[in-house]
Amino acid sequence: MENESYYQGEGKDLVDSKVRLEKQEFESGYSSFVVKVDPQFTQECYEYDKAWDQDFRKNVGPNYPYTMSPKTSQMIASTSTELKKEMSRSGFQIDPWKVGVDDEPYVMGVLRRVMVTDTIEPILTYTDSIANHLKELKEKEPTKVLNIRSFFCGAAVADKSLITRLYESGTTANLIATDIAADSIAIAALNFSVWNELLPESDRYEIHIVKGSVPRELYGRDKTIVLQVEDALRASEEEKNLDLGYDALVLDNGLQYVSSQFTKDLLNNVSSSVGKNGLYIGALGLDSHIKVEIPKFYHITQIIDSKFRDLRQEYSKKSKYEAPYGYSHTYKFNVDKNTGMILINGVVSDGAARMYTWLGKLLSENRSRFKEVMDAIKSATDLSRANRVVETTPFDYHNVIVDTLQSNGRNVEVIERPLEFEKYGWTQVEKDMYTNGKETVDGGTMMRICKEQDPLVLRTSKILVKD
Ligand SMILES: C[S@@+](CC[C@H](N)C(=O)[O-])C[C@H]1O[C@@H](n2cnc3c(N)ncnc32)[C@H](O)[C@@H]1O
Repeated sequence: MENESYYQGEGKDLVDSKVRLEKQEFESGYSSFVVKVDPQFTQECYEYDKAWDQDFRKNVGPNYPYTMSPKTSQMIASTSTELKKEMSRSGFQIDPWKVGVDDEPYVMGVLRRVMVTDTIEPILTYTDSIANHLKELKEKEPTKVLNIRSFFCGAAVADKSLITRLYESGTTANLIATDIAADSIAIAALNFSVWNELLPESDRYEIHIVKGSVPRELYGRDKTIVLQVEDALRASEEEKNLDLGYDALVLDNGLQYVSSQFTKDLLNNVSSSVGKNGLYIGALGLDSHIKVEIPKFYHITQIIDSKFRDLRQEYSKKSKYEAPYGYSHTYKFNVDKNTGMILINGVVSDGAARMYTWLGKLLSENRSRFKEVMDAIKSATDLSRANRVVETTPFDYHNVIVDTLQSNGRNVEVIERPLEFEKYGWTQVEKDMYTNGKETVDGGTMMRICKEQDPLVLRTSKILVKD
């Protein structure tokens, strides 16, 4: 049995705090902090989210696994300051993941991506595929605990999308999610809590935060979410000797920020933790040398247009490209010939048409919400600023994942690749060499040529390790 004790922060009145940490010591010698959130805080978030959810689902995303209002994201931001203080007193080092000298921590933009179609829908395509795979496993073996591993979780938007999607069908799981920044983990904890606390008590997950090692007792425990502050490589290194069997692996928006060697080492370690029914891997990454900066003027013209035309119909005619995950789009862009940077300054997609049409309605019916949505779009599209710190591309790390698993003797089925180069007239002739009939180039060059036709910002991989 684990021991419980309330964490007493230097005489702080715990009754007044919106969030507190409850320390648990485990027989294995490790400890964790259970996140306890004031029901009034979650109730306030719920009040904001109720009206937003109705409006958002009616106009933009009827089937989203969860929605979040801008007010709730602000509440999370302010409460996370309190949680970070508690974490700091408990020995966590609070050091946000930075991509430059920005006013707002990057992870807050990440949290808001659920409000913006083009930044969230690519995530939903692969987390939904993972959810379907896991539901099938559960149907075959109803007593099985589903084990999900996630690295680079940030605000846990992808993780929450997966867990809430599973919950819709009455399925629960164990999730171990890691991020190197305690700052990100604090936001992730609150992001999960505002959903979790409103569930019937018997359905609720226990949400633990850990620094370093995960208490062994928490692996494989159903309805348990462990948010681990640790370097992904160190965490996977420790787990490779623990005889764990993961059913799914989420690599959301992280691998492009680490080297190919890091990805190789990470996957070598994870290869030891494949479950007996295999491992479904879903990864998403931001492509390199692409920046999204949509001028306000462009937004305004589209919003006004939506008042006179059916933008969804217009955009569907204009969407020339289809992402491998089935998202039709055409991006308007310029290429800076000196730096090679691709600057996207206009988005044509069904998601954008739904957003602009909704904004058109809000402009006449609800000005304050109009402004909130415009701000959320700015915050979410600003996420591409992280391009400053990329080390590799989704195309490259995808190949590293597959090669590493195969060299470990794993039977790998690639369900989705970040780039379907055949659609652009290329064929692979040998390892990392491609031809279009006129020239033969390496993968990086081929990727660059394809990208200058269609600079798809977010690219995904779906890989099934069968055994
Ligand atoms: C772009 S954010 C992605 C967050 C999230 N998955 C999302 O919704 O986009 C990258 C995250 O990776 C984390 N990170 C960077 N290097 C890491 C490492 N070596 N180990 C674990 N996490 C890392 C950062 O702290 C940050 O929260």
